[in-house]
Amino acid sequence: MIGYPIQHSLSPWIHEQFLKRTNHNGVYTIFEIAPEDNFEDEMIKLREQELDGFNVTVPYKEKIIEYLDDIDPYAKKIGAVNTVKCKDGKWIGYNTDGIGYVRSLESKYPEIQTVKDCTILMLGAGGAAKGICHALVDKGYTSITIANRTKEKAQLLTEQHPSNQAISLEDAAQRVNEFDIIIQTTSIGMKPNTEEMIIPFTSLKQGAIVSDIVYQPIVTKFLQHAKEMNASIHLGHTMLLYQALYAFEIWTNLEPNMKHLDDELQHVLEG
Ligand code: ATR
Repeated sequence: MIGYPIQHSLSPWIHEQFLKRTNHNGVYTIFEIAPEDNFEDEMIKLREQELDGFNVTVPYKEKIIEYLDDIDPYAKKIGAVNTVKCKDGKWIGYNTDGIGYVRSLESKYPEIQTVKDCTILMLGAGGAAKGICHALVDKGYTSITIANRTKEKAQLLTEQHPSNQAISLEDAAQRVNEFDIIIQTTSIGMKPNTEEMIIPFTSLKQGAIVSDIVYQPIVTKFLQHAKEMNASIHLGHTMLLYQALYAFEIWTNLEPNMKHLDDELQHVLEG
């Protein structure tokens, strides 16, 4: 994995579990590239290693693109790559974040796959939201409302998908009880700002699923509040697991058994 800073990344632990669960021989290590390093030289060093693939994380998800030989259409649409497959000396870029997120949500709540016109509210319109939004649209979800502090950025996401709508965060707070699925895609509520919530809400639709991509803490204030209103919740660390799973599949064509891995990762995160 390349990125900076990545000393505390959980990806090596996750891929070690996948390797064990598939009885596959392999090593997943971190290769930290500091901002003052010469990125081009580091890419030459990486090319010299006989890798099957690597992950790319902040701040290089966009920068890596010019070093690729090919790019998957979905990653191209998003303009960011987090997974590279090395095959016959060629580097092929993918993005597994958004697709991983949707797989994690559908694996926790398989019933949502049968109602693709369920109403979805996405809070935030940054990089993470963009990947999730494209993945939801690709999977056939047709009713996505995007609420963002800067409404213009939400509008940009709707331009690519005309059936989506853009609203302000204030409107989202008023209308939150209209939605079947609510997805919090910003870093609001992340440690140490655990008391923050992106919008206040006092009621939710019956049977609503509320999801937060923040996983530190495991249960954010936003999710805790939703739980108190009897919503079903979806925890952010499962996105981490499923984006890694999709990358592992791209590299190895193997499918690890995921049973209880979310609980194990939760224990690791909780120290
Ligand atoms: P990432 O790639 O992690 O999604 P990003 O691209 O910087 O990060 O996006 C951050 C998102 O969090 C944006 O939707 C941002 O809203 P703006 O587009 O208005 O900046 C949102 N965000 C960050 N801090 C916020 C805050 N205090 N209140 C509301 N939204 C916030």
